Amino acid sequence: MTDKLLRGRVLNFKSEPQGADDTSAFDYFKDGAILIRDGVIAATGLFDDVIEQGRDAEMVDHRPNLLMAGFIDTHLHFPQVQVLASWGEQLLDWLNNYTFPEETRFVDPEHAARMATAFYDELTGHGTTTAVAYCSVHSSSVEAYFSEAERRNMRMLGGKVMMDRNAPEELTDTPQSSYDDSKMLLEKWHGKGRAGYVISPRFAITSTPQQMEAAQALVAEHPDVHVQTHMSENLNEIAYTKELYPDAPDYMGIYEHYRLLGPKILLGHCIHLEDREIGLMAETGSHPVFCPTSNLFLGSGLFDDAGLRARGISNGIATDIGGGTSYSMLQTLNEGYKVLQLRRQQTHAYRAFWWVTRGNAEVLGLEDKIGTLNAGTEADVVVLDACATSAMALRMERVETLAEELFVLQIMGDDRAIAQTYVAGEAQK
Ligand code: GUN
Ligand code: ZN
Repeated sequence: MTDKLLRGRVLNFKSEPQGADDTSAFDYFKDGAILIRDGVIAATGLFDDVIEQGRDAEMVDHRPNLLMAGFIDTHLHFPQVQVLASWGEQLLDWLNNYTFPEETRFVDPEHAARMATAFYDELTGHGTTTAVAYCSVHSSSVEAYFSEAERRNMRMLGGKVMMDRNAPEELTDTPQSSYDDSKMLLEKWHGKGRAGYVISPRFAITSTPQQMEAAQALVAEHPDVHVQTHMSENLNEIAYTKELYPDAPDYMGIYEHYRLLGPKILLGHCIHLEDREIGLMAETGSHPVFCPTSNLFLGSGLFDDAGLRARGISNGIATDIGGGTSYSMLQTLNEGYKVLQLRRQQTHAYRAFWWVTRGNAEVLGLEDKIGTLNAGTEADVVVLDACATSAMALRMERVETLAEELFVLQIMGDDRAIAQTYVAGEAQK
């Protein structure tokens, strides 16, 4: 395979930016280049230096656009691609009236395959190169999800939701079948190419204690595999959860009891937390995931990013399609900025772009593979055009610094600002 050399302005994060002026947290090459060999980054740096190693490479000139690591979305629902923008409800009614009926359709492998094609087109069209998804309860949805990712050579994580109560019959499994199906899918897909399986009990409301035990057994047998669930998103959800698990000290106590907590767990939402839960999160290294467009759309509440970080907790950020309203991690950062404004917290642009790249990779423990442009990592790259729309171009006339440009992308950008997306070195447009 011929080497590829991408030329443009190159931004690569080394650590979490600690402030609006923390330029030590990243490398920025105004005339930079990325050399790609066999889907892996061979070198990143100044064009004049990188070209020395890539004289024979095919050159793609992206100047004056900005190149950075592909975006990572740490929480979304593959079978909800046709649920986005369903009107008028909060979490539990929204699940019952829109989401569950839609997810029943994924029993059909043809439907699941068609949706997978569309889903991945949307992801890469929005600059997302890795995502962590809940599939439906059906194995067919997981097959479609990983087969299409494999065809595109994308690093994708996901798993079948385990749910054995409080949902339509077509959408429920049993403790035993959820264990068997998850294990079969995990053994088939985990580590196959770039795939990563995720053990996925949907949330405590849709799992009996017996199913929680099945999830516990899977986690104990596969300690290297990620786990995902939802927690403390909505006040009615929390009240109902406490009714279903009256012996638990709090919501998180349920997941604690079944030994699901630890650095491998992603806990969607985590808005209305009790102090004991925050302490437990810090102690176990568990990761909350902030889903701003969803939290606003479903009226769930305002995530306390600074409060959690002050306790030493590292948070992911994600779209939560289809409670979330956009595939765009730029729009996710936009709405996230506004949520945090309402909390009197501010995330500056350097940290925002670190968050959707290296930050999310660190939450997943995958920063040696994705989330940076470091040599030896997988060549997932996004090319950003901050002048993509006339309104952005007009605003950009007054922009002088990289931080200002990033903020324009964060607030005004969407899929139109994605000039190109590379997955393992292959252009997707
Ligand atoms: N809690 C349990 N399932 C879901 C879901 O599909 N979306 C959201 N936003 N919250 C959930
Ligand atoms: Zn979710």
